[in-house]
Amino acid sequence: MTSTGIRLHAPAPGWSIAADVVVVGSGVAGLTAALRCEAAGLRTVVVTKARLDDGSTRWAQGGIAAALGEGDSPAQHLDDTLVAGAGLCDEEAVRILVTEGPDAVRRLISTGAHFDTDDEGDIQLTREGGHHRRRIAHAGGDATGAEVSRALVEAVHARGLRTVENALVLDLLTDADGRTAGVTLHVMGEGQHDGVGAVHAPAVVLATGGMGQVFSATTNPSVSTGDGVALALRAGAEVSDLEFVQFHPTVLFLGADAEGQQPLVSEAVRGEGAHLVDGDGVRFMLGQHELAELAPRDIVAKAIMRRMQEQDAGHMFLDARHFGAAMWEHRFPTILAACRAHGIDPVTEPIPVAPAAHYASGGVRTDSRGRTTVPGLYACGEVACTGVHGANRLASNSLLEGLVYAERIAADIAASRAEHGLPAREPAPVGRPGRPAHPLLGPEARFAIQRIMTDGAGVLRSDESLAKAADQLRRLDTEARDTLGENGKTAEPGVDTWEATNLLSVARVLVAAARVREETRGCHWREDRPDRDDATWRRHIVVRLNPDRTLAVRTTDTADFPPTRQHRPQEQ
Ligand code: SIN
Repeated sequence: MTSTGIRLHAPAPGWSIAADVVVVGSGVAGLTAALRCEAAGLRTVVVTKARLDDGSTRWAQGGIAAALGEGDSPAQHLDDTLVAGAGLCDEEAVRILVTEGPDAVRRLISTGAHFDTDDEGDIQLTREGGHHRRRIAHAGGDATGAEVSRALVEAVHARGLRTVENALVLDLLTDADGRTAGVTLHVMGEGQHDGVGAVHAPAVVLATGGMGQVFSATTNPSVSTGDGVALALRAGAEVSDLEFVQFHPTVLFLGADAEGQQPLVSEAVRGEGAHLVDGDGVRFMLGQHELAELAPRDIVAKAIMRRMQEQDAGHMFLDARHFGAAMWEHRFPTILAACRAHGIDPVTEPIPVAPAAHYASGGVRTDSRGRTTVPGLYACGEVACTGVHGANRLASNSLLEGLVYAERIAADIAASRAEHGLPAREPAPVGRPGRPAHPLLGPEARFAIQRIMTDGAGVLRSDESLAKAADQLRRLDTEARDTLGENGKTAEPGVDTWEATNLLSVARVLVAAARVREETRGCHWREDRPDRDDATWRRHIVVRLNPDRTLAVRTTDTADFPPTRQHRPQEQ
């Protein structure tokens, strides 16, 4: 058994666990996949980089979009999703999402999640950008993710699932035929599983979340460093649509130099009637789109950026003083507390807001059953590119996508086992990795990458800014390689050095894809190519890492998506 593809510097595994499935990540997608796999009788292990409830899911505010309300339908949800996706959604993937979504939400409720209800006990629904109807279910007012995470973590404990926390995933293991055989991990402070080890399993589900930390200011927690995409690239899997990074329009503005995770001000605040105003108090979204403040979020983010440029301002304002104290306290307690913690009282003053990196619409390329282009490797949630989001994710479709596609993955693994049986795999020592193909970056590289990406590949991009970013990233890469070449040294393996190295991998691909896409579409905004060009660019940019670490970039049209089934074991 070998570590597949390109290997980074990792010592030999010292311990191992055998399982049928290993799920990497513990947000809505990972825990849903794990619970469904366990319910199907599969020996399931969940590994996660921090604690079980430390991922992005817990920070989701607005909610889960699903056609649950009277007069709504999956067809209407489909239409809104396709419009937001700006011509690049895979319609079949969206159809699956919106038709299977309502029942997936009901199953989440059966698992123990409590959504806000009205006096009759019906789920309360709100609106967000791009939705023509109230279809966003929420919990605790604006604490939907925290409630979903609580319910799933409790269910995982109640079902006695095996979990390994503080476990940074390193690389995919493959067998002699190139099929998935597990993952290597670096675990910190977890007793018998301390240090580097491996979980051997013929199915690996990546549910590692996003990569928002590739930019200086983001709504994502510090753990969102693109680990799953970087692992998949090293394993030879295809990634797609990485240029489509969504910038949330209304993030609490804490100063031009603010870095790291920033407090989100949910779209639901606009859904309940808040207005965006400029420095002169003018509602600048009126007349720009039929939905005004509730236009799809790429349109709102661009309008905010434009007005900021016109007024030479670092932010705009979100005015919801008319809600009054009682509504703020009942409906948006999390946002109210975050604003007040930073000295802003939304009950009496407008909230300063600016766009910040929020969501990766692209990721590891999958088909409609969550299968990647590597046999036995699956992906769901933000790390995946199922084709649902296209060039711009519709608000609150992400928790839903995590639920629906995690369930489909569990069903596929269970069906595959029922049909063919899973190969029995005993824990086996993994050959000691040889000389590292590339050194780990020092932890300080994280901040250099964030600055490069924010300046060159942020909300506004041009060929010039992207070329500069590509050049700076190349220099970081070369410097690290030269160090290795000269004296064989590498940064000490640890979470911070792996995270910095993973961030560089995803940044390189993101910039390469953004340079190739010479148009403006969805959340990809090229100042030098301001128009959408359907004739040339109604296509996906798909990237793979070559064994020599160069990038293989190709484009494919929507008809060619999802990929062919070359990785289906029984079809080989
Ligand atoms: C929000 O509450 O505005 C975020 C929802 C989302 O990103 O889907």
